Amino acid sequence: METSHPLTPPIVAPSILSADFSRFAAELAVADPEREWVHCDVMDYHFVPNLTFGPIVVRAARKLTSAFLDVHLMIEEPLRSVAEFRAAGADEITVHVEACADVAATLAAVRAGGARVGLALKPGTPLAAAEPYLADLDLLLVMTVEPGFGGQVFMTEQMAKVEAAVEWRARRGAHFLIEVDGGIAPDTARIARAAGAEVFVAGHAIYRQSNPEIALATLRQAVR
Ligand code: DX5
Ligand code: ZN
Repeated sequence: METSHPLTPPIVAPSILSADFSRFAAELAVADPEREWVHCDVMDYHFVPNLTFGPIVVRAARKLTSAFLDVHLMIEEPLRSVAEFRAAGADEITVHVEACADVAATLAAVRAGGARVGLALKPGTPLAAAEPYLADLDLLLVMTVEPGFGGQVFMTEQMAKVEAAVEWRARRGAHFLIEVDGGIAPDTARIARAAGAEVFVAGHAIYRQSNPEIALATLRQAVR
């Protein structure tokens, strides 16, 4: 199932964390592989106080959709797992700078496996923590909630980090996309878009709406 994955912003990434897994195939089908990414939140009860799924579910998603699989690892020491998630079908693997004993080695392992390389920052982590790696990243994920749960309130103050990342990228000629994740709905997506965000992860604003297709279309409009 090969398709041309969208890499030109703006991109909306429905987060299956908020999906109904008893209808996994139908929920995945909400995302248009020509336009959207599918965001997969992996949690381990250690890096974050919640537990979700691992490579087995990513592998199932890979069979059910040709969409770009954007895998967000909220796990301690992700270096141990990047090869497994890549083998399961991840197109991009994002690790948290706070979770890695050796950030450079972890990013290098993602690159070596052939996936696009993402680095995530918790709300309390400054952009400076990512600066040593930004030049080589494909994606910088600025968390707009504390990672761990869907349905939280968007942290507007994180927009300063998005703006600083835009500025850093322009100054250094880097190429990473800027993704925001947490509390994204049409109103907050517009705020993030104005700050310079390019990829918009949304769980509740899509899957917890009465019509996820319409909710997704509304989000697409909001970030256009
Ligand atoms: C939170 C996850 C998010 C989550 C966002 O730790 O990383 O991807 O799905 O959910 P909403 O869009 O409901 O805030
Ligand atoms: Zn996420």
